[in-house]
Amino acid sequence: MCGIVGAVMHEDARRFLLRGLSALEYRGYDSAGLAFADNAGLRRVAVAGRVGKLRRAGNVQGQTGIGHTRWATHGGPSEQNAHPIVSGNVAVVHNGIIENHAALRADLLAAGRTFSSETDTEVVAHLLELALEDGHDILSAMQQTAEKLEGALALAAVVAGQEEIVFLRRGSPLIIGESEIKSEIKSVFLASDSQALEGAAVRIAYLEDGDCGLLSSNSVRVINAAGEEVERAWHSLSSSVSVASLGEHRHFMQKEIFEQPFSAAAAVQPYINDKQILLRRFGHGSAESFRRAKSVLILACGTSYHAGMIARYWLHRFGVPCRVEIGSEYRYCADPQANMALAVAVSQSGETADTLSAMRAAKAGGATTVAMTNSPMSAMAREADYIIPAAAGPEIGVAATKSFTSQLVQLLLLSLAIAKARRVLPPAEEEAAVLALRNLPNLMRQALLLEDEIRLWAAEFATSHGALFIGRHTHYPLALEGALKLKEISYLHAEGCAAGELKHGLLALIDSRMPVVGLAPNNELALKTASNLAEVAARGGRLYVLTSGDADFGDARVLRLQDGGEWTSSMIFAVPLQLLAYHTALVKGTDIDKPRNLAKSVTVE
Ligand code: G6P
Repeated sequence: MCGIVGAVMHEDARRFLLRGLSALEYRGYDSAGLAFADNAGLRRVAVAGRVGKLRRAGNVQGQTGIGHTRWATHGGPSEQNAHPIVSGNVAVVHNGIIENHAALRADLLAAGRTFSSETDTEVVAHLLELALEDGHDILSAMQQTAEKLEGALALAAVVAGQEEIVFLRRGSPLIIGESEIKSEIKSVFLASDSQALEGAAVRIAYLEDGDCGLLSSNSVRVINAAGEEVERAWHSLSSSVSVASLGEHRHFMQKEIFEQPFSAAAAVQPYINDKQILLRRFGHGSAESFRRAKSVLILACGTSYHAGMIARYWLHRFGVPCRVEIGSEYRYCADPQANMALAVAVSQSGETADTLSAMRAAKAGGATTVAMTNSPMSAMAREADYIIPAAAGPEIGVAATKSFTSQLVQLLLLSLAIAKARRVLPPAEEEAAVLALRNLPNLMRQALLLEDEIRLWAAEFATSHGALFIGRHTHYPLALEGALKLKEISYLHAEGCAAGELKHGLLALIDSRMPVVGLAPNNELALKTASNLAEVAARGGRLYVLTSGDADFGDARVLRLQDGGEWTSSMIFAVPLQLLAYHTALVKGTDIDKPRNLAKSVTVE
């Protein structure tokens, strides 16, 4: 993964690079570094730790520089393994994985080179240096080097004595930017993502796979995979810097949990009127695609995968066949049924490497593709046949919250739209679902009022060694999500389980120290769920029940909430689960917005 920035400016680039790196920390934050090159030579500073620490480390400066924030893959997070990685007069930053690095390293070692880091990236620095020694200029040195590298990557490098940055995009995202459109004097930039360029660039262009190029004083050159000089389409970038602020909240995660009544309303609003789903809003020709598709194939990772699992119940309700696949598994599964499927890639970032590859594999297999993403300029959004923008607004906390409920809203809207296109959505059901979606923000507000009671639960969870979450039907994937949230930010071991599956193993874990969260919506399975919860209580488990019904759960701690019925219940129940993870982590004193070892956007396999 990792975040890359680079700039050739007419002033010191250090401030820009540090600010850009801060904006990219969602891609990884275990170490960070900068390198500057000019006639005075090459200067590098790097730290194990965050960009804030890099800011305080040595005041290294220059007008031509590259920067990096890392999520370790090869070699632990240390100063030596932090990028830029230097070999001789070359410094390199890299996002992705060089899959044949071990063979290249062995060849280079055999040729007498010595390595100073454990990274896969270091082979690039050596290969560039060797190519430069052979008389290649910086651009052809990169082209030569690229031919030897396998894997998905984005690279940028600087060389002592040269005020230029060479770059390559192959599989991992990279954009270029300019500070002026017409002027002869301008700063030029590159970055993994446009957020790093906000406030500095007025326009940006997305590089395509195989693009290689050079940032020089006042200009950017791009050479495509065929070796032709090309101009990529420019997009204007607002000059206003969107500084995300915490407001009254202690963490972005808490703020984002509390934003859900607004983000959910924003997700619903474009797709409905008073009583109906507006099919045409899903894009020109979408109704026909929805009608023709033999099945729906949902592709996703992490929290987005849980949202997809919930949607399967909705689609099946209308007789629409649906499979939900984890991106990293689907991409290698040689799916014989992709043809004629509607493949929906669900991804907050739109850049998750596994989901993107899965979407490409489905497309290659003959599927029509839909990107449901919170990032309308992302790779998935650009490559899919249709886009459903999630419009949840920027989500800074690494643990997904408002993007999850926005995905649920949009997956429900999509399920209803598919059913409507196939003429299997009775008007009364359509009206009821639209009404439920309209009421959703109010019910979310009420669920947020449970925060004080959840805080009491959290104090007890924080002293436990783990927790179980159980539910049935749509609330089974929600149990998985509740467990994932707790693991991600409180570092407690947690498992989600289908309530009916408890007796096949997890019951063995139940004792008086094991908190068990039961999700008990008031639906046709309520009695069955209640029986499973009774099984936990009978074995002395510490039961915490979230319910929208009025059943008696004996000695259990019970929180009752209004969930608006089958369509919105999972979206409402998600709120207390998020609050439970948040407050447990708060008691434990973990780094809630940037939990250890994780990153918001995972752009490596
Ligand atoms: C990372 C994030 C998760 C997220 C997952 C999928 O693991 O930490 O919060 O659910 O990636 O991300 P996506 O952007 O594809 O939804």
